[in-house]
Amino acid sequence: MALRLVIGLALLGLGCKSERAPALDAGPAERAPTAAAPNAVRPVPGDDVAHGRYLATIGACLECHTPRLATDPERLDETKLMSGGTPFGGPWGVVHTANVSAVAAAYQPAHLEAAIRGQLSFKFQMPTDLYAAYAADDMRDLVAFLRSLSPVDVPAPTNRLADGYRPPLPLAPGTVRETAPTGVSVERGEYLVHVAICKDCHSPRAADGVSYDESRRMSGGGIGLKVSNAWLVPPNLTNDPETGLGRWTDDEIITAFRTGKRKDGRRLHPVMPARVAYADMTDDDAKAIVAYLRALPPIRAKRPPNGPYENPGDIACCFEPPAPEATP
Ligand code: HEC
Ligand code: HEC
Repeated sequence: MALRLVIGLALLGLGCKSERAPALDAGPAERAPTAAAPNAVRPVPGDDVAHGRYLATIGACLECHTPRLATDPERLDETKLMSGGTPFGGPWGVVHTANVSAVAAAYQPAHLEAAIRGQLSFKFQMPTDLYAAYAADDMRDLVAFLRSLSPVDVPAPTNRLADGYRPPLPLAPGTVRETAPTGVSVERGEYLVHVAICKDCHSPRAADGVSYDESRRMSGGGIGLKVSNAWLVPPNLTNDPETGLGRWTDDEIITAFRTGKRKDGRRLHPVMPARVAYADMTDDDAKAIVAYLRALPPIRAKRPPNGPYENPGDIACCFEPPAPEATP
């Protein structure tokens, strides 16, 4: 992670072209103040910025990299789009999301892509392993959108790294499909569960705590989310009638993840980014996700019930994988 911070400092401070920094252990470091990056709207011709924004929205990029409104935790502060600063506690210490609005225009598209796919350095809470699934056409639009952002000048937060913490290695480049799957298909649903990061929260990890237990995929409990004094556990989304969504209709599922309203009327806690990320998901994409969930083997995995939340403003304390173990 020190490696990453060094890269960040070099880019923010000097506006230089990105390169992998040689230093491996700079220790905890403060980010340099944001340099006045050139304000550039320069999408590559043919790239679709509006579609890129859609992907950044349902991919929760905006959600994680934009502060929410103090007055309404289910809305983002549009004046600070992608300016970062959300803290994430974990085994690494505390690392804030990066000010992508300030750096994106300074990055070459290929560098930005590699960062999003997790190939440059470990990105802490950012689910780069899921973003590695982006098809080339979607990635082009996403990058075009990021490069169209106006740099937001905000003070750089201080990251605190745990003593002796060693980050995992960056991900190796994998096969990239040329075009994203389309239509209301199980294949597109599976793709979306990756690039809209449902899997990050809703799929349990394997024994190593990092990779997924694919034999129980989407059965909940991927990440523990600590709010106030309680842990929220992402529920089981497989078709099991007792512990999953087997007794929910398709519409009830879609309403829950697009509006944050559960079938029993209870509002989901806004760490489930229903309104900030998924509210504007197209009907076809929402249906494709449900088609995928329905096609999965139903897994019996009872996750501890989450109660009504009391402090809606308390949304971003700690994300600590792996989640507390389920009690089947
Ligand atoms: C769960 C939170 C989370 C989500 C979702 C997320 N990020 Fe990040 N991102 C982070 C964190 C934390 C960092 C900072 C890591 C660090 O300082 O090393 C980061 C860093 C980055 C960087 C690196 C900036 C630099 O200076 O190197 C880029 C680019 C980026 N994110 C883009 C995106 C995009 C695009 C998406 C959506 C496809 C996204 N992020 C989704 C948490 C997130
Ligand atoms: C940041 C973590 C996170 C992400 C990402 C996420 N969820 Fe959730 N989800 C949760 C949590 C936590 C809850 C439970 C909240 C509560 O009970 O108040 C939840 C609840 C739900 C529910 C309600 C189910 C029930 O039994 O109450 C559905 C449906 C759902 N999520 C679907 C999705 C889908 C589909 C996606 C991706 C498009 C997604 N979620 C992405 C964390 C997440």
